[in-house]
Amino acid sequence: NRYVLIMAGGVGSRFWPKSRNSFPKQFIDILGTGQSLLQITYARFLKICDAAQIYVLTNNNYVDLVLNQLSLERGNIIVEPSRNNTAPCLAYANAKISKINPEANIVVAPSDHLILKEDEFLSKIEVALSYAEANDALITLGIKPTRPDTGYGYIKYENEQVIKTTERVDEVKKVEAFVEKPQLEIAEEYLKNGDYLWNAGIFIWSARSFSRALEVHAPSIYELFNRGLASYGTEQEAEFINLNYPTAKNISIDFAVMEKATNIFTIPADIGWSDLGTWASLHEVTKKDNDNSINSKNFILNNTKDCIVSVNNHKAVIIDGLENYIVVDDDEVLLIYPKAKEQEIKEVSSNFVNSF
Ligand code: GDD
Ligand code: MG
Repeated sequence: NRYVLIMAGGVGSRFWPKSRNSFPKQFIDILGTGQSLLQITYARFLKICDAAQIYVLTNNNYVDLVLNQLSLERGNIIVEPSRNNTAPCLAYANAKISKINPEANIVVAPSDHLILKEDEFLSKIEVALSYAEANDALITLGIKPTRPDTGYGYIKYENEQVIKTTERVDEVKKVEAFVEKPQLEIAEEYLKNGDYLWNAGIFIWSARSFSRALEVHAPSIYELFNRGLASYGTEQEAEFINLNYPTAKNISIDFAVMEKATNIFTIPADIGWSDLGTWASLHEVTKKDNDNSINSKNFILNNTKDCIVSVNNHKAVIIDGLENYIVVDDDEVLLIYPKAKEQEIKEVSSNFVNSF
């Protein structure tokens, strides 16, 4: 009854210009391991789930990229004709999976994260799956925050024990509040308070619980994908989806369901996680030189501190007197931006995302 849904339809716009509309972050070998983030994610889940029950959710434009990078059946790609964020794609996938197996227990995972402690991660997933099977619960893995990052969801958990159903159930904490992408001052407060975790964006629930949550908190999305039920798995599916999917409300699962539902639980997880969402988060996990800058052989960096310098291989770089900057030189785009303002890259680049 175990299913995995890998979300691979985002643009990774805070990672622009390396991450492009035509070739987003999840398809790039960002870590230099020879494998894209999607390939690493897929291989991780193959350890705990049959390939037949792992689905990749993505935009129509990326289907060929997915087929090139993974060996999976075409039928295991759930295709979206438009970009409407994560609530619609999860609602669609959930309705489809529920039809195949109403008893399904589901792991939802982003395709573009780093997880260094894989065994620890998979063991948390096992705990979550058994809890989700026995309880009406929406579970998220919680990460101990290290900075007041405004790009994450924050979860406040209760310290009391929840009702025991398995021996490791004490790892599961009831969530008191879920706040998606708070303002900086609020994030700073949460960090000081200490009782908050970051939402890793990795969710575990039964298809039944998620369906119920959608029905209550995102009824228009729920109804839309429920209406297509008869067509799923038949020749009429694509027709229904192409016509209706673009009309779904454009909203993330975090705003649509996680902030509203009262049956949210979290499992604190020390799994060497980074969402590699921004240049700074890549900087944290990459090898650096003495001045804490990312460096390579053709570089001369004088008086340069805490910089990320990423250029195409063939180019030499000379920089003097730069601190806390992101410098990215791609074939078509040059970006020089202060690290402190990196969340803005998303908006600034939106003028260009369609051209590059
Ligand atoms: N299939 C599909 N369709 N996938 C999508 C879509 C879509 O329309 N939009 C985004 N995705 C994928 C992305 O590729 C990524 O793997 C995942 O869904 C999450 O989307 P992001 O756009 O990266 O979300 P975020 O990083 O701003 O915020 C989420 O993740 C944080 C942790 O990394 C939230 O869940 C936060 O609460 C969380 O802290
Ligand atoms: Mg992300």
